[in-house]
Amino acid sequence: MTSPTSNPTSEPAANASPATVASGAPARTFSGIQPSGIVHLGNDLGAIRNYVRLQDEYEAIYCIVDYHALTSTHDGDVLRTRTREMAAGLLALGLDPDRCTLFVQSHRPEHTELAWLLMTVTPVSWLERTPTYKEKVAQQPDDVNHGLLTYPVLQAADIVIYKATNVPVGKDQAAHLELSREITRAFNRRYGDTFPEAQAVFTEAPVVLGTDGVRKMSKSVGNTIDILAEPDLIRRQVMSMVTDTLRIRRTDPGRPEVCNVCQLHRFFGDDYLEIQDGERTARTGCVDTKKLLADRIIRHYAPARERYLELMAHPAEIEGILETGADRLRPMAQATMDEVRAKMGLR
Ligand code: AMP
Ligand code: TRP
Repeated sequence: MTSPTSNPTSEPAANASPATVASGAPARTFSGIQPSGIVHLGNDLGAIRNYVRLQDEYEAIYCIVDYHALTSTHDGDVLRTRTREMAAGLLALGLDPDRCTLFVQSHRPEHTELAWLLMTVTPVSWLERTPTYKEKVAQQPDDVNHGLLTYPVLQAADIVIYKATNVPVGKDQAAHLELSREITRAFNRRYGDTFPEAQAVFTEAPVVLGTDGVRKMSKSVGNTIDILAEPDLIRRQVMSMVTDTLRIRRTDPGRPEVCNVCQLHRFFGDDYLEIQDGERTARTGCVDTKKLLADRIIRHYAPARERYLELMAHPAEIEGILETGADRLRPMAQATMDEVRAKMGLR
C-alpha cells in the first residue's frame, strides 16, 4: 500500500484542527484568494474544500484579494472580470452567503490603512527574505513593484482586521502565514495585546501538483486542471498529464506512489487502491487511468459548473452578494481600526 507521506498530493496536514483562542475570543475563519479568473483543482483540493467545511464550524469570512492582484494584473477590465469569475466560482463550489461572508478586498479600504500601520512594525529584511517575493522577482523581473515586497503585510492586515484565528490555505501560503504571525507578535509587543495569532489550516492535499507532475499546480505555470471549464478542456488537460516517467511500455509495471494521476484518484472515488494496484501490476495502462480520472473530475464538478454558468449569466446577483458582504464587515473593520489608531496615538 502507498504510504501517505510519500504522496505528493496528500502530505499530512500540520494542524488539521483549527486554533482555539487563548483570550477566549470566538474563533473566526478568514481566507483570501486572488482573482486569477479560473478556479483550478489545486485551489479546490488545497483550500476551497476547507473554506466550505469551515463555514459550518466557525464564523467564516472569505475575501477576493483584488488589491493583491494589482501586483501582477495591470488591466482594469481584466481585473474586474476575473474578480466576478472568482466570486461565481467560489459560490458555485459551495460558499453560501447565508453561512459565510464573501466580499472583495478593495470594498473594505480599511485593509490598506491597516497594512500601512503594520508596515511600521515590520522590518524590511523579513519581507526581502520571503520565498514568494524572490519567486515573483524571478517571474516578473521587469515589474518588481513595491506591492510585491509588501504583499505579506497586506495579507497580515486582511487576517488581523477581523481578528481571525483560522486561515484555510494551501501549503504554498505557509511562509506568508508565518510572517503574518510574526507581524502580529511585533505589533502586540509594541502596542499591547491586540490581535490573536492566526493558524494555517491545511487539507489532506496541501500541495496539488500540476499536469507536469513536477511543479505545484498554478495558473502562472500553465499546468492547471480548470475544474469549472467546459468538459473538453478538462479532458484535454487531464490527458496531457505526465504519469510515471519510468513506465515506458504499456507492459511495464507502474509506480502509483509517484504518479500524480494515481494520487489524484484518491479524491474522486473509493476504489483508488484498486486503481493503484492496476497500475502497479500493469493490468491497466496510464491512458486508461487518465481517461477514468477525466470522466470522474468532469462528473464531480458538473453541478458546480452549471451553478457557475447560471451565476455568470446574472452578474447583478453576484455584485449584490459581494456588496452585502462588504457592508456586513464594516462595523468589525471600523472597530479594529478605532482600537488600533487609539493604541498607536493617532487619536
Ligand atoms: P491563489 O490562486 O494563489 O490565490 O491560491 C488560492 C488558494 O489555493 C491558496 O490558499 C493557495 O494556497 C491554494 N492553492 C493554490 N494552488 C495550490 C496547489 N497547487 N495545491 C494546493 N493548494 C493550492
Ligand atoms: N496570498 C494569498 C494567495 O496568493 C491570498 C491572500 C491574501 C490570503 N490575503 C490573505 C490568504 C489572507 C489567506 C489570508 O493565495
